Amino acid sequence: MTDEVKSATTPTTHPAAAPTTRPSSGKKWLRRSGIGVAVVLAVLLLSLGGAYAASTSKESTHYEVADASFEIPTDAASIAEGHRLYTARGCSSPDCHLDDGGGRVLEMGPLGALSASNLTVHCADFTAADWSRSVRHGVNREGTSVRFMPSQDFSGMSDRELGLIVAYVRSLPRVDRELPPHQIGMLARFIDLAGGFALFPASVIDHSAVDDPDPEPGRTVEYGAYLGRVCMGCHGEHLSGGPIPGAPPEMGTPLNLTPDESGLAGWTEEQFREVLRTGRTPSGRQIDARQMPYPTLALMTDDEIGALFLYLQSLPPMPEGSR
Ligand code: HEC
Repeated sequence: MTDEVKSATTPTTHPAAAPTTRPSSGKKWLRRSGIGVAVVLAVLLLSLGGAYAASTSKESTHYEVADASFEIPTDAASIAEGHRLYTARGCSSPDCHLDDGGGRVLEMGPLGALSASNLTVHCADFTAADWSRSVRHGVNREGTSVRFMPSQDFSGMSDRELGLIVAYVRSLPRVDRELPPHQIGMLARFIDLAGGFALFPASVIDHSAVDDPDPEPGRTVEYGAYLGRVCMGCHGEHLSGGPIPGAPPEMGTPLNLTPDESGLAGWTEEQFREVLRTGRTPSGRQIDARQMPYPTLALMTDDEIGALFLYLQSLPPMPEGSR
């Protein structure tokens, strides 16, 4: 690099330029643009390298998380309720751990390939503390962040719910499905660094606020606020919807869930329940289950949906896209 710049500022030493003749303007231009390209390339390489280093340092950051302990029931009723929650909270999503818990690989083009763990193998000997660390804190057994798993949406999950979900996963027969390790594309690292999505969820979780007391289930704003965290991954931290930063357009545009004109102002609980149960909007449009996971959200009980609606209606109205 420096050599090239030197040769450009002292053309007499350049082999292409005879000492007595001035280089033609064409050659000069060529040389200048060559230098320009080299500089741009170098800057690009340096910033790529810098971004890569910033991203890998995020990847190797160590998190200290206190061991949680909670009961993991083994009776059939708890396992059945655990199955409902495993589905309703999105764990079984067709893009993720699936109903059999065996997981899958999700090819995401230039973003990489995501391996949603085979829970029946990977977590076979997990203690309650291991489960809490990975689901609620986004931290794996090595103490670094899990990748892609939306733990930030589950960091408020109660001991009761997590216990029931683990009860279901523990009841599953072992699935023999080998999954390759994650492949993280450079684009995914860039979008993460730009704040588009959390590739390393542990880096965005307030670990001191995770093990809060369990909210009492019921038709209350508080319980609704607890349930509403599941919607934030797509509808935004403030639930005001709008395009998901960094997401491909096929993921759709989540609706504003605050009581704004562009959102849920004027909705009734019946209309809200109808969307979550059937995917039919008040105007009669059928929404796409691949964008908005209503078939799993449909497993919420009437009281859960009621609590969620109370909470959403209690939010300050915000324009769409305030995220
Ligand atoms: C995986 C991403 C994702 C999650 C998680 C998610 N949504 Fe959505 N949601 C969407 C998308 C995308 C749309 C827009 C779909 C459309 O317009 O076809 C949407 C639309 C909606 C609609 C409006 C339908 C309309 O246009 O009238 C409601 C209501 C809704 N979501 C509620 C929720 C609630 C409540 C939760 C949490 C319990 C939730 N969503 C979780 C992605 C998501």
